[in-house]
Amino acid sequence: MHSASLIVDPAFRVGAVDPRLYGSFVEHLGRCVYGGIFEPDHPSADGDGFRPDVLELVRGLHVPIVRYPGGNFVSAYNWEDGIGPVSERPARLDLAWRSVESNRVGVDEFQRWARQAGTETMMAVNLGTRGIDAARALVEYCNHPSGTAWSDRRRANGAADPYGIKVWCLGNEMDGPWQIGHKTATEYGRLAAEAGKAMRLVDPDIELVVSGSSNSRMPTFGSWEAVALAESYDVVDHISMHSYYQQHGEDRDSFLAAATDMDQFIEAVVATADHVRAVGRHRKRLTIAFDEWNVWYQSRFPGEENLPVAEAPPLLEDVYSVTDAVVAGNLLISLLRHADRVRIGCQAQLVNVIAPIMTAAGGPAWRQTIYHPYALTSRYGRGTVLQVAAQSPVHETAAYGEVPLLDAVAVLDDDEGLAVFAVNRDLHEEMAVDVDVRSLPHLTTGEHVVVTDDDPDAVNDREHPDRVVPRRHADPKPDGGRLQVVLPPLSWNMIRLTAER
Ligand code: AHR
Repeated sequence: MHSASLIVDPAFRVGAVDPRLYGSFVEHLGRCVYGGIFEPDHPSADGDGFRPDVLELVRGLHVPIVRYPGGNFVSAYNWEDGIGPVSERPARLDLAWRSVESNRVGVDEFQRWARQAGTETMMAVNLGTRGIDAARALVEYCNHPSGTAWSDRRRANGAADPYGIKVWCLGNEMDGPWQIGHKTATEYGRLAAEAGKAMRLVDPDIELVVSGSSNSRMPTFGSWEAVALAESYDVVDHISMHSYYQQHGEDRDSFLAAATDMDQFIEAVVATADHVRAVGRHRKRLTIAFDEWNVWYQSRFPGEENLPVAEAPPLLEDVYSVTDAVVAGNLLISLLRHADRVRIGCQAQLVNVIAPIMTAAGGPAWRQTIYHPYALTSRYGRGTVLQVAAQSPVHETAAYGEVPLLDAVAVLDDDEGLAVFAVNRDLHEEMAVDVDVRSLPHLTTGEHVVVTDDDPDAVNDREHPDRVVPRRHADPKPDGGRLQVVLPPLSWNMIRLTAER
């Protein structure tokens, strides 16, 4: 058995957790909207056509914000197609995913769904085929109270009160050659600055997200951020980051260390943003919206150019193993570790499309393995992130060299006590961890919850929706200011310590 140790001390703070770190993403892609959140023919559908079982599972994730409506989709989307009487809305060819977009769900329907889900919207505007005018009109439609053409259209469409959408994405992955309306960093930076300026003139209270690199392997990574920010720094609040991970071949050890890449990526973007800040003599400091992250087996996707055109086809419906759940939980640990700069995170996506929630047409909805670390971190990872001083055995990985087998972060909250989130990346050996909590003597009741399975490829599916679920381990009890816990091989763990009630 391995041995490791952690020291947790409230004196060493990283920063307050912005609840929006636990966001998600709904794109008009595959069966995320149609057949996911919205299925009017489902036996349980509500009056708006939404699935209550899906809403219930979404509420279980405690999702504070959902990015919408794309993604690649947004770069050729006319938001006006999705408002007004449904029977008059056009069916359009969605060129991003080679699908027929019926427009039965648009801005107003999504706001009704978001209200039921108890979540805010992070709205993306089209800076691919469109620009300043469509973007400012959408802000006016959503957020202006009344007395103008667009705000009165919203009222006529049934929403007397403005939606008050706070966070707005200035396009999506505009550095990617696959993006419709792809731009150079200078072209994009200028457009983002001018669109953002006009949007903020409509509503001064909005927060703006400028598009960063689609991933850290892009040839323009680093210079894209520097150039686009040089043009737009004064106007924007956050810079976006996207990253997806998968296991390559048999190399599970590198996959399990994917959070190493996320750490390095975040630190590189923070450094670049701070460089632009210094060069431009700016006062404000930008923060990060990591608004697409997840495990995604992109190697299984044939590529959008090879898709036959269809309406709401099943696309990117990855089935996640317990290994994927451990990695996804570890990616959340990485986001928390950078809570001083990462303000928004969106696990991509929410339903059916690389998602924690799956549905069968006309049938049940269930939780994938990755649902569980997300739900528990979102529920208990609120408060202040603390640095943890960790001593861990290491091993060699092909992708990242030497990495620790234990990765952990701690979050302290006045009401909820302490939550330590930890992964054991070793596939075969348990790990005994000594957690030093001497500085938190008032916390005396321990709980240890584990996501693991004897089979690293175990999945949840329609027939076995609860094969992989969080399970309670032996409750640890602090003794002399120390907690002893054992992390199973290949496991994601939550260790909580609360005051006696
Ligand atoms: O989430 C799936 C796709 O991944 C999004 O549409 C795009 O932004 C990213 O490349």
